Amino acid sequence: MSQSTESILIIDFGSQYTQLIARRIRELGVYSIIKTNNISLKELKQLKPKGVILSGGPESVHKSTKLSMPKHLLDYNIPILGICYGMQLLADYFGGKISQSSKKEFGPSSFTKVKNSKLFRGKDIPKEFNVWMSHSDKVIKLPRNFEVIGSSVNSNISAFSCDKLNIFGLQFHPEVTHTDHGRKILDNFCIKICSCRKSWTTKNKIQEIILDIKDKVGNERVLLALSGGVDSSVVAALIKRAVGKNLYCMFINTGLLRKNEERDVEATIKKSLKVNLVVINAEKKFLKNLKGITDPEAKRKIIGETFIRIFEKESKKLKKINFLAQGTIYPDVIESSSTKSKSDVIKSHHNVGGLPKKFNFYLIEPIRKLFKDEVRKIGKELSIPDYLIDRHPFPGPGLAVRIIGEVTQEKISILREVDHIFINEIKNAGFYNKISQALAVFLPIKSVGVMGDQRKYNYVVAIRAVKTSDFMTANISEIPYKMLNMISTRIVNEVPKVARVVYDITNKPPGTIEWE
Ligand code: XMP
Repeated sequence: MSQSTESILIIDFGSQYTQLIARRIRELGVYSIIKTNNISLKELKQLKPKGVILSGGPESVHKSTKLSMPKHLLDYNIPILGICYGMQLLADYFGGKISQSSKKEFGPSSFTKVKNSKLFRGKDIPKEFNVWMSHSDKVIKLPRNFEVIGSSVNSNISAFSCDKLNIFGLQFHPEVTHTDHGRKILDNFCIKICSCRKSWTTKNKIQEIILDIKDKVGNERVLLALSGGVDSSVVAALIKRAVGKNLYCMFINTGLLRKNEERDVEATIKKSLKVNLVVINAEKKFLKNLKGITDPEAKRKIIGETFIRIFEKESKKLKKINFLAQGTIYPDVIESSSTKSKSDVIKSHHNVGGLPKKFNFYLIEPIRKLFKDEVRKIGKELSIPDYLIDRHPFPGPGLAVRIIGEVTQEKISILREVDHIFINEIKNAGFYNKISQALAVFLPIKSVGVMGDQRKYNYVVAIRAVKTSDFMTANISEIPYKMLNMISTRIVNEVPKVARVVYDITNKPPGTIEWE
């Protein structure tokens, strides 16, 4: 984002709620960005945040290996809000005392304001309200010049502040919806205390992104890897506004796509986005490169590499192109980075972690900092048709990460049919938009069945449907049994090589959405 964007910096200490803090703040209309605790002074100066939030995390200030607070944050003289572990870090740093406990207080608690702090300003926030706790250690002695602003059943110091330094601490989680008035408390911090303007609106985001693209690209040509999904379609619309005819979109049929995908995407993109579109059929190449590969990460890397090499080769046939654009979004970035972020590498999304180290393009990723729902809002604002905006996501590596084990043409064909029936059934039942993502998975096992009095010994497929707003966490969708029954009956009857259908009932976490 441009340097003019006012932001709140969130330092991630490994809390499962860090992304939620970022989203809540963006929902308030303020840009927020997540960094680890080793953020350098130089980076801090570049970001120029108007306030800092220290997230919670599984750490304890008593551990010698604890993640500590970047000291230069304090020299920077901007308001700081510590949440949970963030609060304990602040207390520890300024000379307070933290009790060590292995017992966790997890769940609802009642909180009482003991002082009318700026953080709790507003007539809607009562003296007592419900909050959500998730901690073991707690602050038992305040640092000098700090005062208690709230207490709870299990802790006399559940919230503190040091008005002189503009530092605040909360033991509970204001970002979680189970905390009453959490949104107002974060609003007070960002707007009243940090004086941020609510300028992170969809219109402003669009303007900034377009300016940023113009700035980077000038009069050069841009090649966009277009999949026909919401992210790359929105990127196409944004780049088209920035560089007009200099945008060239390339759709690669990897052979790992859904049924009729090439035909449908070509028709849709030409009709609704009206961009230069080149369609490449690389089915054989991908299948050849994936031969014998069973490891999920190896598959992802090979697909990422194959993609980029095809882009390099095919783009040479176009007029000179130096820029490659991708529809990478924020969750892809967070989940693919291990050294920069506290989060583990969950999987290498091909448009981030799966890219080879060297390739002959400057990469531009205009929506890299946005969550999915923000991308959808931009799409609507840019008048991209609803059927494109509301499409369930489909991963870059496609059916390859939904086929457990080696990818073969036979398995692809089976899974394609299964997927087609599944998606059609939920569409016919008017259920598609109630689900965030539905998918089918090919399992490398066979099972016995009986059909028309005959023994059947054939493959097993799994179906999965989840509900989520940001794809970082997800709950299983409750597809009615009647519909499940119809889906499984159709699959087993219509796809000859399938003997059994199972339904995946795993939330994320612990499961990821894709199986690989
Ligand atoms: P997971 O499986 O990590 O998926 O819970 C989260 C979301 O990301 C999609 N996904 C991908 N998208 N390239 C993509 O463009 C990828 O390599 C990739 N892997 C997963 C997944 O479908 C879900 O929507």
